[in-house]
Amino acid sequence: MATTPPKIKKKSFIYHIHPPVIPENTLKFTHTWGFGGSALVLVLMQIVTGTLLLFSYSPTPEAAYPSIMTLQQVILFGRLIRNLHHWGGHFLVLIVFFHMLRVFFTGAYNSRRKVNWWIGLGLFLCVLTANFTGYLLPLDQLSYWAITICTGMFDYIPLIGTGIQKIILGGTEIGKATLSNFFAIHVALVPACLTILMPFHFWQIRKAKGVIYPGPVDTPGGNEISKVPSVPHLVTREAAMALAVIAAVFLFSVLFNAPLADSANPGLSPNPTRAPWYFSGLQELLQHFHPSVAVFVIPFVIVCGLICLPYLNFDKEVGGVWFLSQAGRKIGIISAVTAFVLAPVMIVLDEFLFKTIKILPDWPPVVTSGLIPVALIMGFVFGFYQIVKQKYGASREEGMQAVFILLLVSFIVLTVTGIWFRGPGMSLVWPWDRLTTQIAWVK
Ligand code: HEM
Ligand code: HEM
Repeated sequence: MATTPPKIKKKSFIYHIHPPVIPENTLKFTHTWGFGGSALVLVLMQIVTGTLLLFSYSPTPEAAYPSIMTLQQVILFGRLIRNLHHWGGHFLVLIVFFHMLRVFFTGAYNSRRKVNWWIGLGLFLCVLTANFTGYLLPLDQLSYWAITICTGMFDYIPLIGTGIQKIILGGTEIGKATLSNFFAIHVALVPACLTILMPFHFWQIRKAKGVIYPGPVDTPGGNEISKVPSVPHLVTREAAMALAVIAAVFLFSVLFNAPLADSANPGLSPNPTRAPWYFSGLQELLQHFHPSVAVFVIPFVIVCGLICLPYLNFDKEVGGVWFLSQAGRKIGIISAVTAFVLAPVMIVLDEFLFKTIKILPDWPPVVTSGLIPVALIMGFVFGFYQIVKQKYGASREEGMQAVFILLLVSFIVLTVTGIWFRGPGMSLVWPWDRLTTQIAWVK
């Protein structure tokens, strides 16, 4: 029920980033699922646990691994703090990804919110960079080889790839310079960017007069919308969510230890060498496409698509409604099921049929495993868009959303395949075979 907003000291800085009153209908939990707030809590937890880790961690190739061992075995609660930082970082990627999906599926990247969508993309980049650079710091076999495989991917970027790789590594392979580069980016550059971008992100929400809610996208949060004071209505919900997130990360960290293999050994590589899970989709693409297409063309198109999304000029009459409409929901399910069935079939066909029998003439690989498959996929996606429009009467927005879901679910299938279905030599295996087989080490 709407109540009269309390008297507020308008000058308080906090009101620039946290509202004193909010529209009542944005309080509904299922509208945001609290993902943005949870991401904030996780970032703050990373800063606290990361600072504690700094007391014992040494960023040199000789001392990094022993310092992690000391942390785990000697320092009181050292293992717990490492677990919290490790799992917190991984949860953060997931939660930020879910937050991004909620923003997309409630159409909250349009119009007045487009700048915030771009700031969000910057935040996502920070979170991925933090995880990627943090991954190397323990300098065990897992981190050494995961970073080797990921930085190796830069080599496939035409013209500038090798240069970028050298700058990141500080040389031609992982060594002292790499560790100091990663350490500086991890503990200084990324936290600084997050600390600058996050208040801007929250200020933009304030500028847009709160999070989106069902109705025309451009409606100013005018007086006709019933408002309630944030204290206690919003703040109690935020506090409950924050406590739930902290409890979940603690519970997970008590139950599961962060992995730590032997100290890094450049002469002994694991088979298969895996990228961190959030890059498994990319690594899986490498199994099916020409490397330049897998690590450059496809990611480039995805990033451009995400940046240009607010310019697609979606229907401004619809905002804040999950999946646009009832029809949008139905078509979304059809797209998800199509991708869920087709993507594994294509992976298996490519593995056991296309790679073994010779279908195409002896054209260069960039044509046979690059241009032709990409053209076929684009043709399929266009055909799919036309079908949902004509057969299911989808609007342009619903059709675009269907295509987005098709690509999203396909990418999730690729990621899951990369994480659980790849064994020695990157061959396809069942997850239970993968889990029961020891990692093979190759000299
Ligand atoms: C560290 C990462 C991030 C944090 C801490 C964060 C935090 C938040 C919070 C607290 C909200 C308001 C409540 C909610 O929606 O849950 C929000 C809204 C928003 N976020 Fe984020 N966010 C992050 C990343 C992102 C990313 C990756 C994107 C998209 C690329 C994004 C785009 C937006 C947009 C457009 C809104 C406004 C939504 C609306 O008006 O309904 N954010 N964010
Ligand atoms: C969004 C923020 C951050 C994320 C996502 C993140 C993520 C990670 C990850 C995944 C690791 C590897 C953990 C492991 O397996 O051992 C790590 C290590 C580390 N991080 Fe962070 N981190 C963040 C912020 C920070 C900050 C702000 C600091 C310090 C001020 C910090 C200090 C460290 C240190 C010293 C290590 C090496 C110790 C270790 O590996 O356990 N991190 N980080």
